[in-house]
Amino acid sequence: MNIQFHEASGVFSLNTAHTLYQMKADSTGVLLHLYYGHRLEGETEYRIRYTDRGFSGNPYEMRSNRGYSLDTLPQEYSGSGSGDYRPSAVQVLGENGSRTVDLRYAGHRIFRGREVPQGLPYVRGNEETETLEITLQDPAAGLEVRLMYTVFPSCDVIVRSAHLTNISEKTLTILKAASFSMDFPYGNFDVIHFHGRHCMERIPERIRTVRGQMSFGSRRGMSSHHSNPFVILCDRHATETTGACFGSMLVYSGSHLEEIDTDQAGSVRLVSGIHPDGFAWQLKSGETFETPDAVLSFSGDGLNGLSGQYHRLIREQIMDPRYRGVKQPVLINSWEAAYFDFDAEKILRFARAARDMGIGMLVLDDGWFGARNDDTAGLGDWVVNEAKLGCSMGELSDRIHDLGMTFGLWFEPEMVNEDSDLFRKHPDWALCDPDRRPVVARNQLVLDMSRQDVVDYLYQAMCEVLDHARIEYVKWDFNRSVANCYSHALPPERQGETAHRFMLGTYQLLSRLLERYPGLLIEGCSGGGGRFDAGMLFYCPQIWCSDDTDAIERLEIQRGTSYGYPVCAMGSHVSAAPNHQTGRVVSLHTRGIVAQSGTFGYELNPEQLSEEEKKEIRQQVEMYYRYAGLIREGTYYRLTELDGGEDYCAWMFVSPERKEALVSLTVTHARANGPFPFIRLQGLEEHMWYRLEGTDLVCSGAALMHAGYSFPLTFGEYASHQLHWIAEDRRKENV
Ligand code: GLA
Repeated sequence: MNIQFHEASGVFSLNTAHTLYQMKADSTGVLLHLYYGHRLEGETEYRIRYTDRGFSGNPYEMRSNRGYSLDTLPQEYSGSGSGDYRPSAVQVLGENGSRTVDLRYAGHRIFRGREVPQGLPYVRGNEETETLEITLQDPAAGLEVRLMYTVFPSCDVIVRSAHLTNISEKTLTILKAASFSMDFPYGNFDVIHFHGRHCMERIPERIRTVRGQMSFGSRRGMSSHHSNPFVILCDRHATETTGACFGSMLVYSGSHLEEIDTDQAGSVRLVSGIHPDGFAWQLKSGETFETPDAVLSFSGDGLNGLSGQYHRLIREQIMDPRYRGVKQPVLINSWEAAYFDFDAEKILRFARAARDMGIGMLVLDDGWFGARNDDTAGLGDWVVNEAKLGCSMGELSDRIHDLGMTFGLWFEPEMVNEDSDLFRKHPDWALCDPDRRPVVARNQLVLDMSRQDVVDYLYQAMCEVLDHARIEYVKWDFNRSVANCYSHALPPERQGETAHRFMLGTYQLLSRLLERYPGLLIEGCSGGGGRFDAGMLFYCPQIWCSDDTDAIERLEIQRGTSYGYPVCAMGSHVSAAPNHQTGRVVSLHTRGIVAQSGTFGYELNPEQLSEEEKKEIRQQVEMYYRYAGLIREGTYYRLTELDGGEDYCAWMFVSPERKEALVSLTVTHARANGPFPFIRLQGLEEHMWYRLEGTDLVCSGAALMHAGYSFPLTFGEYASHQLHWIAEDRRKENV
């Protein structure tokens, strides 16, 4: 068993391959956090010290022991208003107006597998999965909290969530319900969080924890471009290859909050979950509220080690197994090639040209439905505009299939334009406060996904399109932040539920479509990567990484994304030069190498390519198919440090058996007479010999990893190198 309860000491131990997590309920029933980190033998309660700190009060039953305070003890799920002044995990409003929560241990159980949360994406689990459920209660508040700890031993991951039940006869209102909180008694950390904006998502910022509170999060009704629901706490000296790192990632796509608090004694608390701003969930007697999963992981091998654990967990336990090992075709997307200006003939010309270069799928982006000729109209009217296309979608998709290609289509289900038949018929289906004009963004409003009738309409409308054409792929977009989060279907006292119910409606629609079309691949998107999170990855095995397709910008975006998310999830395309977002000119070679570290596709007008470019693209496509397994299933390593000051960005993939490695390097700043770009490879087998493909150079894994490899100098901006190393059997050679 990977979960143990030691009766004599009362210590719970959660073991994974390389980590240990320990806690215990003390004599007052407070669930104390003891340890999370390297796997080790024995118990760690000795770490907890008690002292009388001024202004840190004592629970009534411990009033004679001034060294015992909830304000200073490391806890597993912090209450509120009961003498712990650090950020709370849970806040509840009782009918009597009391807001205090003081949770004490009431029991536990250990079982195989896990309980699956209702209506939410989750970490799936397999035969090695075990769960510890610890029940805490506060009879005065009428609240029971079941803390769920599900262990994924080989991924070195512990998944936490909380189930809150009203055990009183009265109604409770939950004001905050974090997925977890965790205290590090002796923290001396850096925090890495992932900020950004439209066209520049998931940029890591590494900062020291400060005395007091730091918080990151999104109030946008979406996980957002601006702050990803993933944070890392690491040793101050941690690098990509060394040091202790802890990660916290929510499996959720709505508003979220990550709080990091360093208290008077230097202890660090990390709390993460649904954003409490605007959140108020009514819980009637006997009802339960389940939080999203939070994925916790620890690595003692630096940031690359931690990333590898998240990549593996997401690939094996979050993404739908139906996509595992499936070779997706290289696609061409019509957006940057045509924007709204197309008809079926033009799309077919793109398809023919793309097919001749070996591209296997055509994706028709925005503009094929309703009165959608620009972004002012049509969202919500999911009816094919046959007049614009010049044929039905069925006919267009047949003709694309006749070329030997598959076909994909863009939708933005959760949105509506005021200029649409849907809005004219159902103005109350858009989120909007009574007696107010709504915030408009990109000329659109947000549909009220908390309403079952809205979800049902979208399901019907999308099925109508999907049933009448051969469609293998859907791009699911979400092009604005949510505001005026008021539902006309909920009573006033339940308006604080709208934002979370919105996410439940979206997840329901995704689930129903995937159930009806098991072969369909849905690519997530939100103005690029505004909803790039583990919640969406449960349904969509890939997500468009950014609307910024500039290869040099993409180096930053994809590198930042890789801290938490696997490369096989990153939607990345080669687009035109000069780039449409930055005007930068980058060689087709470099654009190909950068886009290759992702799902790979094209987003340019193939009719505007020269014969030479077409030839190069044909080679790129072949190359991608050759390396796709290595890129999608291999272990990914960042080879350049965050803020390392190098004029290049390098990364690599190693096959699971370590017999093959693909190393890529792009120069980001050309220098006269500069240093040779130098890297140390990672993840190879020290004693294996690797041949650099196309050369006579053979090096041991140890040499490549310790002595490193330097690249020749290049001339001109943004040159790229790609090296393919293949293990060879030296013994045979010596015979
Ligand atoms: C978003 C997407 C783009 C494209 C447009 C269409 O911005 O990220 O790729 O689909 O919408 O309107």
